[in-house]
Amino acid sequence: MASAAPVANSSGAALVTGGCSGIGKALAHRLALRGYPLLLVSERSDRLETAAAEIRTAHGVLVHVLCLDLARPDAAQELHRRVQTLGLEVDILVNNAGIFFFGEAADAPTDRANALLQLQVVTPSLLCTLFGREMRERGRGHILIVSSISAWRDFPGIAYYGSSKRYLRGFARALRSEMGVHGVGVTCLAPGPTATALYGTAPETLRRGRQLGLFLEPERVAEVGLQALFAGRAECVPGIINRLLAHAAALTPQWVVDTIRRRASWLRVPQR
Ligand SMILES: NC(=O)c1ccc[n+]([C@@H]2O[C@H](COP(=O)([O-])OP(=O)(O)OC[C@H]3O[C@@H](n4cnc5c(N)ncnc54)[C@H](OP(=O)(O)O)[C@@H]3O)[C@@H](O)[C@H]2O)c1
Repeated sequence: MASAAPVANSSGAALVTGGCSGIGKALAHRLALRGYPLLLVSERSDRLETAAAEIRTAHGVLVHVLCLDLARPDAAQELHRRVQTLGLEVDILVNNAGIFFFGEAADAPTDRANALLQLQVVTPSLLCTLFGREMRERGRGHILIVSSISAWRDFPGIAYYGSSKRYLRGFARALRSEMGVHGVGVTCLAPGPTATALYGTAPETLRRGRQLGLFLEPERVAEVGLQALFAGRAECVPGIINRLLAHAAALTPQWVVDTIRRRASWLRVPQR
């Protein structure tokens, strides 16, 4: 996909959570292409180091890595403190890190459910508070919040995941209104199915899904998301089919969703 303008015009860095794989890594590459020094944050240091080396070689920008479990209750404060220690000014905050699990809420392992809520509700919100406050003082900055098309309605089977993405979408909208008057842009990126490791899909299935156009490439999602961010758009759903799906899902009555779920064996509804 063609690269797009704005080249970084300040020394401010772009902080990308979950920047070592999937959509986050693709966002990091495309921010580096625009000249931004990077700070990649995720949990696994080997993957972080590999991604950082790849980006340095490809784009010649400064890439810092920070290994941190963002599902920890104090993760946002800890990350903010470590960024201050590094002496970095964050001009672009990308809240991207996420996990997914499928199944009824009553069956969810509580530690996994707690991690999801910390990672996809508490930490990104508090990062917006801590880094957004500094952006507001400087009168410039961009915040990209990665939600999902699952935020368009309430789906049984992904109550934790979908509701966290719905929260992020709403948070992004409110934050955008608050920050816009201070020169800080906020954009919500809501991808549909994307060919990454998120769902633990087998590589062969991902390959076929890509061929059939069921999954978008993370590079495309990232580029469309960044174009929306720099154009100052409120929301962005990459791919026309995903935009149609999101709106169709929002208009579908709940009884239709429930009927499909009861009848679709692959949705693993327990028999009672
Ligand atoms: N793929 C899709 O179809 C799709 C659709 C809509 C929205 N999204 C959203 O896009 C975002 C990126 O997902 P992806 O598809 O690119 O999947 P991915 O390749 O699995 O990336 C998830 C990233 O989150 C990081 N992460 C997970 N748990 C973490 C933790 N406790 N602390 C720190 N980092 C953690 C991972 O880092 P480690 O490897 O170090 O754990 C990884 O870099 C997510 O928010 C997801 O919900 C994806």
